[in-house]
Amino acid sequence: MSNGGILTCVCLFYACCCFCCSKAMPTRLNQEPVNERPIIGILTQIISDEAMKPFGKTYIPSSYVKFIESGGSRVMPIRLTLTTAEYERIFREINGLLLIGGAADLQTSEFARVAKIFYNLALTANDAGDFFPIWGTCMGMQLLTVLVAGENLLQKTTAENIALPLNLTTEAGSSKMFQGFPNELMKALTQEPLTGNFHRYGVSVETFQENEKLQSFFSVLSTNVAENEVHFVSTMEGKRYPFYGVQWHPEVNRFQWNRRQNYPHSPHAVQLSSLLAEFFSNEGRRSLHQFESPEEEASSLIYNYTPVYAGNFTAYEQIYFF
Ligand SMILES: *[C@@H]1O[C@H](CO)[C@@H](O)[C@H](O)[C@H]1NC(C)=O
Ligand SMILES: *[C@@H]1O[C@H](CO)[C@@H](O)[C@H](O)[C@H]1NC(C)=O
Repeated sequence: MSNGGILTCVCLFYACCCFCCSKAMPTRLNQEPVNERPIIGILTQIISDEAMKPFGKTYIPSSYVKFIESGGSRVMPIRLTLTTAEYERIFREINGLLLIGGAADLQTSEFARVAKIFYNLALTANDAGDFFPIWGTCMGMQLLTVLVAGENLLQKTTAENIALPLNLTTEAGSSKMFQGFPNELMKALTQEPLTGNFHRYGVSVETFQENEKLQSFFSVLSTNVAENEVHFVSTMEGKRYPFYGVQWHPEVNRFQWNRRQNYPHSPHAVQLSSLLAEFFSNEGRRSLHQFESPEEEASSLIYNYTPVYAGNFTAYEQIYFF
């Protein structure tokens, strides 16, 4: 219901905007108010792993970058050491944000501080009709729940190095994330282990249902059962805001290959990862934020950095270090 509502709203606004512009500025008639060159920001992670320390202070595994690029977007790495004013400027330049997995305190870390700045900017922007999507994977999703709830509701829901099918809720059928998925893939999602889990904490279904803020903000699209039998929220999407969370890792299906890790690589697993990457890029296309100049844009993109081969000292094949 609410999903249909917001779509209509955005469409109406969009149509209204076109109408206004074409009337006031007929020369702009041919200008498509859709952004075909989306740029997604990815917050770096602070390095705690000793083996990675010689390479830099922060990092982004290449698999997340490839995930975004595979959907038709470009990536801007965002450092955690900038001022609020600098993040505000970056927000006006990028078309979406990816909060990646890793290990950081969800309330006191620099990662949490910077994510909160973008989260608040995104709330305000979306409220004003300035579309801005956020995607959280694993810890990124956990952080989204902390930001929305205003408190850390995580509990032990270990699912470490295991691929699982999703227990889809009835809301999954009318979701934005899975909209357009072929029926065969939706069926496979519930029967085949297409989602790689690498976490110890999560939000239990019970906690979610008891929390008014989470309940009203997100729809739960899938659940899974942890080693300790606790049912946890594994996929969620914003009812009103274009914010998405997966407790599992769609990027590993195509871009991580460590033999000790249970990364799903079946055709359905690859298709799932591809479609979600395309979905999020399409969300980014709806954001009209842009850099002030092509030069500034070029110097901000991930292409200015070279990933390092890390397959012999981490579970990642390649990592960008900053
Ligand atoms: C799937 O979710 C439903 C609630 O939506 C729950 O009752 C059921 O036990 C779950 N099944 C599994 C296998 O997780
Ligand atoms: C990993 O491999 C690279 C060469 O590809 C080598 O330079 C580096 O020393 C290796 N690191 C470890 C920890 O073995």
